[in-house]
Amino acid sequence: MYICLEGIDGSGKSTQILLLEKWLNDYGYEVLRIFEPTDSATGKLIREILKDPRATEDNFQKTLALLFAADRMVLMDTIRAAEESGKAVISDRCFYSSIAYQNPQSVSDSNQKQDSDTSWLYELNKFVKKPDIVILLDLDVEKAISRCDGNDSFENKAFLEKIRNRYLELARTNDFFVINANNGVNKVHEDIKKVISPKIGRCI
Ligand code: TYD
Repeated sequence: MYICLEGIDGSGKSTQILLLEKWLNDYGYEVLRIFEPTDSATGKLIREILKDPRATEDNFQKTLALLFAADRMVLMDTIRAAEESGKAVISDRCFYSSIAYQNPQSVSDSNQKQDSDTSWLYELNKFVKKPDIVILLDLDVEKAISRCDGNDSFENKAFLEKIRNRYLELARTNDFFVINANNGVNKVHEDIKKVISPKIGRCI
């Protein structure tokens, strides 16, 4: 089982991933925890580029789309091997982050343009494995910004508003589970457990 947590910067994914790992471990599941961008050479390059004030610009975003796709390809064998050995794979982000972040069109732009941009991103990521379960931690942008350290140029209000709307759109068309991340850490963890429990045949 491959579970992915998605959401805008500051939505609390990292905290929730650790709580989810512990909960699954307590139930006897071995877990492989992964994150994107990874700590590979490509992942490190990505993190450097994200600090550039021009990172939200179109050409930078296209470069980032290519790098993110390359970075996640290195995870595919690891995910497959973990699943074959019966581990649960939990991931902080997956290719849906690229669909949400690297598409420069706002959600209200013409469908035609949106489709062509999105199809390029899907094409780039066509060899990556799709998660079995995607949980979107949905958070008000104001709150998200207050949690960010401001080091990356994606951490700005107007940009994240656009990404949040795109995620909600993706959630509708791809059956993500949407959880209100404005609630406290414990409530969000409870809500995540409610999503995962039936999938692993557990009552909570
Ligand atoms: P993030 O999960 O915030 O990592 P960290 O908590 O370690 O900073 O990811 C870093 C940034 O990368 C975040 O702004 C979202 C962005 N990102 C994309 O734009 N596209 C992608 O495909 C991925 C995986 C991440």
